[in-house]
Amino acid sequence: SEACSVIPEPWRFDCYPERGVVVTKEMCEARNCCFIPASSSLPPSRRNGIPWCFYPQEFPSYSLVSLNDTSLGQKGQLVREVKTYYPGDILNLELEIRHETDTRLRVRITDPSNSRFEVPITVPNATEKAESPAYTVELSKEPFGLIVKRSSTGAVAVILILYMHFLQFSSSLPSQFIYGLGEHRSSFLHDVQWNTLTMWARDVPPMEMTNLYGAHPFYLAMEEGGNAYGLFLLNSNAMDVVLQPAPAVTWRTIGGILDFYIFLGPDPGSVIEQYQEVIGFPAMPIYWALGYHLCRWGYGSSNATWEVVKKMRNSGTPQDAQWNDIDYMNHFMDFTFDPANFATLPDLVKDLHAHDQRYVMILDPGISSTQAEGSYWPYDEGLRRGVFINDSDGNTLIGKVWPGLTAYPDFSDHVTHEWWYDNLKSFHEKVPFDGLWIDMNEPSNFLDGSTKGCPSNSLENPPYTPGVLGGLLRGKTVCASAQHKHSLHYNMHSLYGLMEAKASRIVGKRPFVISRSTFPSHGMYSGHWLGDNRSHWKDLYTSIAGILTFNILGIPLVGADICGFSEQPQEELCVRWTQLGAFYPFTRNHNAIDMKPQDPTAFSSLAGTAMKQALLLRYSLFPLLYTLFHHAHVHGHTVARPLMFEFPNDTKTYGIDRQFLWGSGLLITPVLDPGVNYVVGYFPEGLWYDYYTGNSVRSKGEDMRLPAPLDQINLHLREGTITPTQTPNLTLWVSSGQPLHLVSALSEDGSASGDLFWDDGESIDTYETNQYAYIVFSVSQSVMTSQVLHNHVEATFITVQSATFYGVKQAPGKVLVNSQEVSFIYRPNQVLTVADLGLNLSKNFTISWM
Ligand code: GLC
Repeated sequence: SEACSVIPEPWRFDCYPERGVVVTKEMCEARNCCFIPASSSLPPSRRNGIPWCFYPQEFPSYSLVSLNDTSLGQKGQLVREVKTYYPGDILNLELEIRHETDTRLRVRITDPSNSRFEVPITVPNATEKAESPAYTVELSKEPFGLIVKRSSTGAVAVILILYMHFLQFSSSLPSQFIYGLGEHRSSFLHDVQWNTLTMWARDVPPMEMTNLYGAHPFYLAMEEGGNAYGLFLLNSNAMDVVLQPAPAVTWRTIGGILDFYIFLGPDPGSVIEQYQEVIGFPAMPIYWALGYHLCRWGYGSSNATWEVVKKMRNSGTPQDAQWNDIDYMNHFMDFTFDPANFATLPDLVKDLHAHDQRYVMILDPGISSTQAEGSYWPYDEGLRRGVFINDSDGNTLIGKVWPGLTAYPDFSDHVTHEWWYDNLKSFHEKVPFDGLWIDMNEPSNFLDGSTKGCPSNSLENPPYTPGVLGGLLRGKTVCASAQHKHSLHYNMHSLYGLMEAKASRIVGKRPFVISRSTFPSHGMYSGHWLGDNRSHWKDLYTSIAGILTFNILGIPLVGADICGFSEQPQEELCVRWTQLGAFYPFTRNHNAIDMKPQDPTAFSSLAGTAMKQALLLRYSLFPLLYTLFHHAHVHGHTVARPLMFEFPNDTKTYGIDRQFLWGSGLLITPVLDPGVNYVVGYFPEGLWYDYYTGNSVRSKGEDMRLPAPLDQINLHLREGTITPTQTPNLTLWVSSGQPLHLVSALSEDGSASGDLFWDDGESIDTYETNQYAYIVFSVSQSVMTSQVLHNHVEATFITVQSATFYGVKQAPGKVLVNSQEVSFIYRPNQVLTVADLGLNLSKNFTISWM
């Protein structure tokens, strides 16, 4: 009909999202929706995804029937008269609008007659209404709609439809530039051409268009003119997020409530900070977390593991942590180690410690349930304390993972945390590990559901199932109807990794945990790696988008398996990957079982040297990296940063995911293709300096072709930045005690600034308890000053030994350090260097030239 055909294709919102059904006119009209097959004049690629069955404008919806002011905003009642097509219509709703801060709005839609599941993470409890919000909220009564506006631009309109097991709302997007929505394999910038991103934690080697290990219902969207806003749906149920070219977004979740936050930024970095104010800022990592980690599945023995560690030491390649995969365990059972092949494990760990290195091993949640009674404490005691997930009949649910049949700890319960801790502690007494790798925590199951399958009910087969891989919620996990103490697995599934991470700490120092499954707020407890990638050039490229996305999701400690997990990397790929990996915030080489070794000592000496150089380079940049993590912890800044965050007015940066920054000023341009000796990178407008030589290039905002020999990664410093570096060494323990070298990249007008956060590297809450030093450096008018804003004894152990200034236009006649004349070197490429300074970091100083 006319009313249907006037809706342009990009604006057709899907009324029949069920997969695997061919929708007919009759089926569609039974839902009171419009049926128009997508015009076949379009090429199939454009046609794909356009819904044939879509909502008419007058689809029965809610009306806002009352509205009252509250101390935080407004509360209203929504009523729908007409039942529609899924069972369990909710005809009366409560709407609550909270003006929580000037840049944060929260909207909650609840069922006043039934309490529903709400995500058990701690969010701020606003008590006062924002005074001068950057947004206005407009409500339309019939049908109900909600429009959030930033002064003039950036409308976020909302249309709504809700059922017991199906909650949906759609809104327009101010542009097609939308990011976040993890965990998926995709470009950093999402495609809005009918792109459905499903969320439901899942163990599967990363591929496109599939729900992966974590669930992060948050997006960042750009508006006109470089502004950005964010939207977070605080919901952990299985869901689809549909992007369509209007541009518009639809959220479709099958449980919980609609509880969403809008963050007004206005710049992308501020949006991310405001998001993390809600979900929690990431933990400050222990210093060695930022070193090089080496791992593989299938060393086969502690002695073989040890051999690699020794080879690394002998080759002078930095390494902070050695890891073991499941082969260290006795029959893959948690909290055991193989008494034959890994008999020397405790000695290996002792040796690592003696060399200032650390040991990390894997733990999977599945606890073997088939050992003779009395022979495996974790299971026996777990049963005794009732820590395991139950099936819907209340019996321990049994699945299957590496050790065979297993029970799954229910980390929603504090009793389980105590039991987990007791296990960790007694294993730690045998093998004094330093950190934990928590894997398989989607939770993964080699069976679908359990040994008994799953019952047939509305939790297992809801009226609508989002586009989860395999089409069933129970696919490669436990039954949706399984029971946690806190709630049903149906609700808690995607929270499993988060809950396990919370439990996985062992007292004393800052915990080091790397988790596969994640959920918002995970950064407070652990980092993440991107899972089972392959040794392909494509995986090298997609790792950048993954790392940038997790940085905007508040989990900055993230990396991909360097050189690829499955399959065999070529030497060239492994070199390029180690160079890029040296700039992952978390740097680990990991390899699948039966694959040839791919650690830096396993290749030609040329390749080995190139890898070692890349890692030494990372170690030399530790003071910068550590300071960036401090800002992530305290302010919610990104560590690995998309270019668009620093240049939001340059739309050419919006799609960049082959390059990224560390902080605001270090540009990384890796080679991502085989057989090339150059790389093309984009340089936003301004002056950029080659990190190694100080040679400058001025960009008008253009692509540049850079030489890219196999032994070096391109790095550039942005004008106006000061980067603290250190002489690298084999471990960060040694390296972080070395003298500092400050590199200033002067802007056109001769200014620059930078900073340094310094503490003991391992005590908990050093910032919060004032146990740190914070120093700011600045240059202007040929004077550098170092100013200690917050002093601490740790700073007294560090010497500032040298300083280099890139972009000093004229050769100085003399250089003064704290008014004392010193010798210097000036090179014709406008680089000034002063060495042998011997300054103490804990004291203010000046360096000037004239
Ligand atoms: C999973 C992990 C992988 C690990 C393997 C064996 O596939 O993602 O990193 O090596 O299990 O534990």
